[in-house]
Amino acid sequence: MPLAYPATAADWRRLAQQRLPRFLFDYIDGGAGDEATLATNVQDFCSVRLRQRVMVDVQQVDTRTRLAGQDCAMPLALAPVGLAGMMARRGEARAARAAAAAGLPFTLSTVGICPLDEVTAAAGAPPWFQLYMLRDRSAVQAILHKAWAAGTRTLVFTVDLPTTGVRHRDTRNGMAHGGTRAALLRISQVLARPGWVRRVALGGKPLTFGNLADQVPGGHDLNAFKAWVDAQFDASVTWRDIAWLRQQWQGRLLIKGVLDAEDARAAVDSGADGVVVSNHGGRQLDGVASTIRALPAIAQALGGQTELLLDGGVRSGVDVFKALALGAHGVLIGRPWVWALAGGGESGVRSLLQGWQRELAVAMMLAGVTRVQDIGAQHLDGPFFQP
Ligand code: FNR
Repeated sequence: MPLAYPATAADWRRLAQQRLPRFLFDYIDGGAGDEATLATNVQDFCSVRLRQRVMVDVQQVDTRTRLAGQDCAMPLALAPVGLAGMMARRGEARAARAAAAAGLPFTLSTVGICPLDEVTAAAGAPPWFQLYMLRDRSAVQAILHKAWAAGTRTLVFTVDLPTTGVRHRDTRNGMAHGGTRAALLRISQVLARPGWVRRVALGGKPLTFGNLADQVPGGHDLNAFKAWVDAQFDASVTWRDIAWLRQQWQGRLLIKGVLDAEDARAAVDSGADGVVVSNHGGRQLDGVASTIRALPAIAQALGGQTELLLDGGVRSGVDVFKALALGAHGVLIGRPWVWALAGGGESGVRSLLQGWQRELAVAMMLAGVTRVQDIGAQHLDGPFFQP
């Protein structure tokens, strides 16, 4: 039965499952190994209990805040998701437009399909840009130059992918070793037939990674591209490379993929403006802690001095509230926006974000707090995940 009025992230997930080819749905939905970390990312939010407070004047509740120096309608940004442009026609451009309409930042992945210029034009404002370090540093420089020229001022540097995690669903779907190259191989097989991907996802345009194609000799050809991608992901990166990145990038630098308090300190010491607590949505090392569990120790290590964001398992406006109560300044969401994009296109993403903003506002009212900045440990019912 099609769902007329999707209300939750789970509803959008169900719609996405109905609409996408199996291998694409599994690519979004799946995690590494036995998917234990993927599951606990979500479950651990459920075990955080909040205090209900009454008889507080909550007529004027304000969900607005600033993230990375940008005004946001609520403390939430859309996380970078590779290949998201496959999930609906010109997908990243549509999702970015929905985010802009909701007053929220959108992050474009290095391995997104739509180029920065297209996304910027669609949204009417430049997105945040996510970077994976490539062996070819001159290609990185060229990408950063383009991002800056497009008006992007926030760079999200992802550090938890020296190699792609082992994702069994992808293996079962013929994406032999998981990862970008395997995904491309599978997609090119699908493209060889007329069907969903060609008709819906690409909208008549060629399949390329919009922000990388110019860096690759013959990069608008998928085969040339596949060989290049395979050789480019750089597993030798250390904190020392942040100094180099800092020289190339004058804007804000958020380091994404930190799960350990020591690493969070190292990120700040190496020059980051902010840290994103993340385990890549449970797609990398299965068995690591959920992000909400890891958050308090990291918040304590950073002592409120550095912008602290979290992603992984955030599935509602109430979860946004919980993340803030445990020390984050804001959250990123990955799968929920991609499910909504696949299930309902641009209006699906808009509907999801509107729903969450309302849910956050209602949570604030029922917890007796009127400003996002005032959400804190005092709203928790009991000590959770103490450092
Ligand atoms: C991701 N993520 C990701 N992160 C990144 O920095 N660059 C990328 O290209 C991708 N690609 C990607 C693809 C897919 C299909 C998923 C699900 C995730 C990780 C993403 O930014 C974020 O950290 C997680 O998705 C957060 O977890 P939730 O919200 O999906 O539970």
